[in-house]
Amino acid sequence: MHASAALGRIQPSATLAMTSRVLDLKRQGIDVIGLGAGEPDFDTPDFVKDAAIEAIRAGKTKYTNVDGTAELKAAIAAKFARDNHLTYTPDQISVNVGGKHTLFNAIVASVDPGDEVIVPAPYWVSYPDVVQFAGGTPVFVAAGAAQGYKLRPEQLEAAITARTKWVILNSPSNPTGAAYSEDELKALGEVLERHPHVWIFADDMYEHIVYDGFTFRTIAEVCPALYERTLTVNGCSKAYAMTGWRIGFAGGAPWLIKAMAKLQSQSTSNPCSIAQAAAVAALNGDQSFLKERAAAFQRRRDLVVGMLNEAEGIDCPTPKGAFYVYPDVSGTIGKTTPKGVTITDDEALIGYFLDEARVAAVHGAAFGLSPAMRISYATSEDALREACTRIGEACAALR
Ligand SMILES: Cc1ncc(COP(=O)(O)O)c(C=O)c1O
Repeated sequence: MHASAALGRIQPSATLAMTSRVLDLKRQGIDVIGLGAGEPDFDTPDFVKDAAIEAIRAGKTKYTNVDGTAELKAAIAAKFARDNHLTYTPDQISVNVGGKHTLFNAIVASVDPGDEVIVPAPYWVSYPDVVQFAGGTPVFVAAGAAQGYKLRPEQLEAAITARTKWVILNSPSNPTGAAYSEDELKALGEVLERHPHVWIFADDMYEHIVYDGFTFRTIAEVCPALYERTLTVNGCSKAYAMTGWRIGFAGGAPWLIKAMAKLQSQSTSNPCSIAQAAAVAALNGDQSFLKERAAAFQRRRDLVVGMLNEAEGIDCPTPKGAFYVYPDVSGTIGKTTPKGVTITDDEALIGYFLDEARVAAVHGAAFGLSPAMRISYATSEDALREACTRIGEACAALR
């Protein structure tokens, strides 16, 4: 017995691997600051927890409709109408076990071997692996710091072939924090309107975490002509600090939603009934805390960007959203550590930071664009200040 060919096409998640390495070091009593995980340090709001406890008491502990309860689909429809001015009926809504599961279901339900999926790089680590698992081919398009880590219309045009099934757009982005403006989305939309066989996977997971008064827009909203072939994806994990509850969802074409439900009916069945009840409370409840949390994230962003730009060899752009920075680290490559080790690439730099500075970040190669690193600043300002001081000292020690 050996693992399947499909499994051989994918890698374990690099970000989850770093998280478990940090946990291991901490268990050994080593003082390491983990900036690798994509998870808010804030707690799930109390009103959401209370709704979950109430759901347990009320006996909402049984199987539900495979792709989401009627209550949650109604709350999601209201969310799409409120935040995105998009109308989705219950048969256009799918609820899944986290946003990663939404991605998995959508891709596995629609991609055949040989199909291409355009993935702008740097990308969230799961996109290429899920495409490859399905037998598809990720087509990477480099969108570096010089273009604000955003796909340009002419690049999109050049990447589309007769085999293109999807293009993935993630705004604000994991790992860069870059976010597309309405005009930028319209420009990409003009290209897509010329290619009616291409579907759009709009990953809006960080919609509510935006800065400097940035107005979030999603592509189906600003390009109504693309609505029919856009899957608008979101979830509770990031904005509502509910990573452990595992609720992701999407709005899109009824046939695709049905196909995703068919796949889900033979894998997880329904998402946890209690987590679904909690998600209803999160989406229907008072949303004002979202802005307060975004303001806290913005203070942390400013702290981290400022301190990293002081470090020798690191050049850190200022992101518009999410809770990541993605600095270019080319200025450190080729230098030597005090122990005489040459920093050959961003993975070596991350290893040096972990071993000598006791700070965990994730190397850019994991996200498809090097030399860079991703730092998640979803942690306390004190920890961030200490981590950036350590990174600064480690950079200064390179020769
Ligand atoms: C861009 C993006 N999309 C989707 C997800 C999925 O989140 P989850 O599966 O935790 O709901 C993540 C999580 O890291 C993400 O960064």
